Amino acid sequence: MKKILAFGASTSSTSINQQLAEFAAQHIQADTIDLRDFYPCAMYSTDEEKENGFPENAVKFFEKLKAYDGFVVSFAEHNGTYTAAFKNLFDWASRMGKVWNDKPLLVMGTSPGPRGAATMIEAAKNRMQWNGASEITGTFSLPSFQDNFSAETGITDDALLAELKEQLHKLEQAV
Ligand SMILES: Cc1cc2nc3c(=O)[nH]c(=O)nc-3n(C[C@H](O)[C@H](O)[C@H](O)COP(=O)(O)O)c2cc1C
Repeated sequence: MKKILAFGASTSSTSINQQLAEFAAQHIQADTIDLRDFYPCAMYSTDEEKENGFPENAVKFFEKLKAYDGFVVSFAEHNGTYTAAFKNLFDWASRMGKVWNDKPLLVMGTSPGPRGAATMIEAAKNRMQWNGASEITGTFSLPSFQDNFSAETGITDDALLAELKEQLHKLEQAV
């Protein structure tokens, strides 16, 4: 059976993107990880790599991704792009091989504001295809998280829920 991994690209203990990723995972029986489990991890630099090699947690992250056939990632938006915490693991992983291992990726994002991390989604969609995603199967933006998501039931807006399900279905077909 094909295996899908979902996670929020944030190290916040209250991450709304982690909540969205976990909600999405329930619909497709995906496994989930928490990015906090891959920290501490040294900040990437060529000096760090030369002197100390790959950090254990960066290797753990890369190896974890290698075990999956598709990915659902909800990227938190920090200043218009993905978080430094994700980018750091991503930089290390990119030194080890193809980060997404020639597998399909659904790019998601949510934010407290009405743009729903739209700037970051565009950035991630454009970037990730160059780091070994076989295909970006689609994007999903959840705007105004606090208005459209409940901890008990997940996405509360019917149209947005239908859109998420459609995107998850597309990913499943590509896996
Ligand atoms: C340093 C920083 C930069 C941020 N930049 C943006 C931004 O550019 N656009 C946006 O919509 N929200 C921005 N936010 C708000 C985040 O969307 C919000 O903190 C969200 O909860 C982050 O996702 P997370 O909870 O999954 O970590 C920023 C927050 C921080 C702390």
